Amino acid sequence: MRIILYTGKGGVGKTSVTAATGLRLAALGHRTLVMSIDPAHSLADAFDMDRTLMDHGGGKPVRIRENLDMQEILIQQEVKRHWASVYDYVTKMLHVSGIDEVVADELAIFPGMEEICSLLYINQYVREETYDVVLVDCAPTGESLRFISIPTTLDWYMSKVFKLERRVMKVARPLLKGVAGVPLPEDDMFVNIETLFNSLRGIDSVLRDAEMTTVRLVTNPEKMVLKETQRAFMYFCLYGLTVDAVIINRILPDDADGEFMDAWRKTQQGYLENIEEFFASVPIWRVPMFRGEVLGTEGLERLGDALYGDEDPSPPNTSEAPMSFTKDGDDTLLRMKLPFVRAAEIDLSAFNDELVVQIGNFKRHVSLPRNLVGVKPGKARRDGDVLEIAFPA
Ligand SMILES: Nc1ncnc2c1ncn2[C@@H]1O[C@H](COP(=O)(O)OP(=O)(O)OP(=O)(O)O)[C@@H](O)[C@H]1O
Ligand SMILES: [Mg+2]
Repeated sequence: MRIILYTGKGGVGKTSVTAATGLRLAALGHRTLVMSIDPAHSLADAFDMDRTLMDHGGGKPVRIRENLDMQEILIQQEVKRHWASVYDYVTKMLHVSGIDEVVADELAIFPGMEEICSLLYINQYVREETYDVVLVDCAPTGESLRFISIPTTLDWYMSKVFKLERRVMKVARPLLKGVAGVPLPEDDMFVNIETLFNSLRGIDSVLRDAEMTTVRLVTNPEKMVLKETQRAFMYFCLYGLTVDAVIINRILPDDADGEFMDAWRKTQQGYLENIEEFFASVPIWRVPMFRGEVLGTEGLERLGDALYGDEDPSPPNTSEAPMSFTKDGDDTLLRMKLPFVRAAEIDLSAFNDELVVQIGNFKRHVSLPRNLVGVKPGKARRDGDVLEIAFPA
């Protein structure tokens, strides 16, 4: 199965590109799912479809044409399905803290739950081989980074914090009951989290397998968008996901004339050159600005033709993962591709069995292979875009 994530700054054309790709893949005979994890679902609008069809789907995949299903995750329902005890506990706690029940209901949905739910579905589709290709229309960049950081964070939480917390609660519950006036989590809640965690098992390697999962960054030839695209590229590398294409959308065509348009085109030209230079390591696909909005099958097919010509866009464009351990004589080298970031912005700390790489607010816990546990790493060095850390034998 192939999983392709589409992300980029708000409004750049993610949903249009995802929908157009879905149509193309279905027409080529691939069993395709387009999935929206942006709470502001707009896939149905891109297809210019009647919303009631999706509402009837209740958050499950809905067949919209031969070989093409569409799914919009409905977070309230998903949370009740997968997180019942966690949700109950948090709502109860918020409620006793004086928060109105309706508001508590809303607040009990943590940031990141949408992403976890879609990961649960993706993992299920991988296990059951339901589709040939799953296309994910992500929320704007910041949030999609949360999406991919979840498996590592959860893994870390389960192995480091969860077991301890559960043990502490087992001892403390009888002592604290009724004292604090705040409900304590029952063991049910821990069982619930554990079950969830088990359903997510394996998703980490699915996301990191460059032959299975890749990210395609949608961008526009504009300064602010370009900057965000570079940051996103770097953060996806940090979390071990492979970016295998950059899609430049809304390029002004030559026949958009007049002095006003000429000025815009000139500005775009400069950024197009920058994009070609910055992202030279991956294929760059271009889409012109169309005369009107891209809506409905016809508009989306036109976009698909402009993007892909006669090509099938499903195969990955690279198989090189951004992080690897290699041998260097007797030493082991950890190589991480981290473009567009200054060395001073990278903060490294080594613990017994993991290396923590922090850039800005994002932190990646890299579990070390068994033979490197306890080995003190040498100084990190940069080789172009790659950060190298040597572990002496
Ligand atoms: N190449 C294009 N030419 C003309 N209009 C376009 C083009 N690409 C996208 N659009 C239009 O721009 C609008 C925004 O596109 P879209 O919804 O795909 O962006 P998005 O990145 O998903 O936005 P959001 O961040 O809000 O989810 C839509 O009305 C769409 O029809
Ligand atoms: Mg969108």
